[in-house]
Amino acid sequence: MVTGRDVNRRWILRRRPNGELRSEHLDLTTEPIGEINSGQVLVRTVYTSLDPAHRLYAREKDSYIPSVPLGGVMRSFNMGVVEESQNADFATGDIVTGVFGWEDYSVSAGDGSDYMSVVDMDPRLPLAARFALFEHIGLAAYFGLVKIIDPRPGDTLVVSAAAGAVGSMAVQIGKILGCRVIGIAGSDAKCALVRDEFGADVAINYRTADLTSALRAAAPDGVNGFIDGVGGEILEAVLEVLAMNARIAMAGFISQYENDAQPYGPGNIYNLINQRARIEGYSAPDFASDSHAWAKAHRDITDWYFQGRIKYRLDVDQGLENAPQSLRKLFSGKNEGKLLIQVSEEPIRQPPRGESLPPGLSGDRSR
Ligand SMILES: NC(=O)c1ccc[n+]([C@@H]2O[C@H](COP(=O)([O-])OP(=O)(O)OC[C@H]3O[C@@H](n4cnc5c(N)ncnc54)[C@H](OP(=O)(O)O)[C@@H]3O)[C@@H](O)[C@H]2O)c1
Repeated sequence: MVTGRDVNRRWILRRRPNGELRSEHLDLTTEPIGEINSGQVLVRTVYTSLDPAHRLYAREKDSYIPSVPLGGVMRSFNMGVVEESQNADFATGDIVTGVFGWEDYSVSAGDGSDYMSVVDMDPRLPLAARFALFEHIGLAAYFGLVKIIDPRPGDTLVVSAAAGAVGSMAVQIGKILGCRVIGIAGSDAKCALVRDEFGADVAINYRTADLTSALRAAAPDGVNGFIDGVGGEILEAVLEVLAMNARIAMAGFISQYENDAQPYGPGNIYNLINQRARIEGYSAPDFASDSHAWAKAHRDITDWYFQGRIKYRLDVDQGLENAPQSLRKLFSGKNEGKLLIQVSEEPIRQPPRGESLPPGLSGDRSR
């Protein structure tokens, strides 16, 4: 793990991909770290989140947020440590998250534009758990279910990419909310995980099953809710088996992210009319504007975790230099849990002011 206070490595987007986003579309540059100005904060990256959305940021056309311009650093959601601060809201040593980039060090304007905030979570949780349980992962599953699908106990819920980061959380929260959960995943091993570890009632391998028939067999009364991160043919299969008034929370469309020219859309979208069903796209951070619901989500997930009702998996690769090749795992289905790159060492965690860490954790590293 190479990081030196004087050097900042940054992955710069040089070319737009046509198909897969690979290292040849980016350059790993090395720059000196300049001085920070009044109001600014210097953050050392500890973890960078690898997300399917990187492929969206690399395209010419904007997606749910603007694309990364050519010559710009690849955008990413990071956790890091404040190394230097000229901003009264952030102190040296604070552990923060924010929308920064694939880089060793980020300079925050400290004005909220990068959503930088001090990490506030139960100190018994490992730092990296933040990326699986909360932020754009756990909270995407939570709000897709609670706010968009709003299931009744006994409803049948389908989750795609069910062994993945968002999907595994959606399966488990769906069970907590009393649903019968059908998970869809891309291998028998992942299906076993979805059933045995995450608690789905049924898991279907979409690569080997006739998906529509398998769904019909698993949900004879139809599907009431679907939390979808895949789109394309998987969405098409679920549209065939909707119950009346079904709700679909569209979190993502990964099957088509590499297909800018002609993304595949389901031909049977009119089934929404037949079934008086609803489909709604959303992005987890949208829900932050409701501070009450946002705080409740954090409390609920924390409680469920400590009650043993939620588990998470992390897939942590080492070294910023490996970011583009690690990203491929998301598109080939090779990731095993929430995919992260560890860029530098975790800091030793200090208890919040006026509090002490639980026994056994005081002064320890967090994981
Ligand atoms: N709306 C939001 O706020 C929000 C937030 C975070 C993520 N997302 C979206 O949620 C989805 C999942 O993201 P994640 O971070 O949780 O990733 P993930 O599920 O941990 O990893 C991606 C998984 O997608 C599956 N996949 C990849 N290509 C596929 C294809 N062509 N057909 C079917 N499945 C495919 C693979 O699983 P299999 O081996 O099972 O195929 C892969 O492991 C993405 O669409 C992402 O953009 C949305």
